[in-house]
Amino acid sequence: MTTQTITRGETVLDARGVTMRFGGLTAVRNVDLTVGSGEIVGLIGPNGAGKTTFFNCLTGLYVPTEGEVRFKDQVLPPKSFKVTAAGIARTFQNIRLFANMSVLENVLVGRHTRTKEGFWSAILRGPGFHRAEKASRERAMELLEFVGLAPKAEHLARNLPYGEQRKLEIARALASEPGLLLLDEPTAGMNPQETRATEELVLAIREKGVAVLVIEHDMRFIFNLCDRVAVLVQGEKLIEGDSATVQSDERVIAAYLGEPFEDAPGAEEVAEVEAAEAQAEAQAEAVEAQAEAAEGEGEGEGEEDQVEATEAEAEAAEVRATEAQAEAAEAQAESTTDAAPGKESDR
Ligand SMILES: Nc1ncnc2c1ncn2[C@@H]1O[C@H](COP(=O)(O)OP(=O)(O)OP(=O)(O)O)[C@@H](O)[C@H]1O
Ligand SMILES: [Mg+2]
Repeated sequence: MTTQTITRGETVLDARGVTMRFGGLTAVRNVDLTVGSGEIVGLIGPNGAGKTTFFNCLTGLYVPTEGEVRFKDQVLPPKSFKVTAAGIARTFQNIRLFANMSVLENVLVGRHTRTKEGFWSAILRGPGFHRAEKASRERAMELLEFVGLAPKAEHLARNLPYGEQRKLEIARALASEPGLLLLDEPTAGMNPQETRATEELVLAIREKGVAVLVIEHDMRFIFNLCDRVAVLVQGEKLIEGDSATVQSDERVIAAYLGEPFEDAPGAEEVAEVEAAEAQAEAQAEAVEAQAEAAEGEGEGEGEEDQVEATEAEAEAAEVRATEAQAEAAEAQAESTTDAAPGKESDR
């Protein structure tokens, strides 16, 4: 897929000097980050780098120890519902849906900051209430259509497969009609097809005029999609730039990406284990082949025959060992190409 770069408009999000300390631990240190209208910005970094904590500082879940967050030139109050009302919506790394409510109801919950009908209107249920409710349902259905979940509107959220629950979270976040959407690992647990579909969905969200800030460990997803990528390492912003710049930055490669970029820390470990296993297998096969050769030697009739048999068996053993080693190398290559960087937990 090609990245469609859309010209960056005015700054919508402007985070300055954001620091978050938990006791002695500084999870986020003096981070500046901006997102312009029409932009898709990626936030990457190893496990525990402070990415989710930074999101929590932007969305009023945490009050930053230091720093300021502005949205469309207004300083954001550190209260989640006020941040949502101001125009920032988010999804969570660990999915937060109302499991026993229907898919449609979950999206309707996301609309409450945008409906004017208050408590008395809900009690009295006059014409105004019914009009507002109808409009809300229509908008919610539109959003379900948009993310591809309309046919499941009446299903219970908990019965959706994992990938669809993530999509529902996105629909619910969009229901608050945000100007900026924050996505915390939207493809975690998804298969490659679902991940590609999510890329398309994020592009479609941007087409609708919503800027996106996305945390993700899937580097292919990030570099396909983002106009700009910022890298957090141990709470600090290491670098920020376009995909090409970030991918080729020596410090990023050393801190996170490995080489090539798909080869993130988790993938590297898997590759090492797989290569070691394949090598052990190859050695075992070689030993077996040699044992067979020795047996063949014992069975040979003439001296010359014996030598020939031994040589032939040794050659066969060598070929098998080489093949097994080639398989090991292939396994390593595959694991570096395909594996998304490893994650330890879903916080
Ligand atoms: N509420 C909290 N109290 C204390 N420490 C916290 C809290 N929230 C996060 N941390 C710590 O802050 C650091 C950053 O965590 P955070 O969840 O932001 O990382 P992350 O970059 O999102 O990692 P991951 O990729 O694994 O999701 C970690 O050391 C974490 O243990
Ligand atoms: Mg996180």
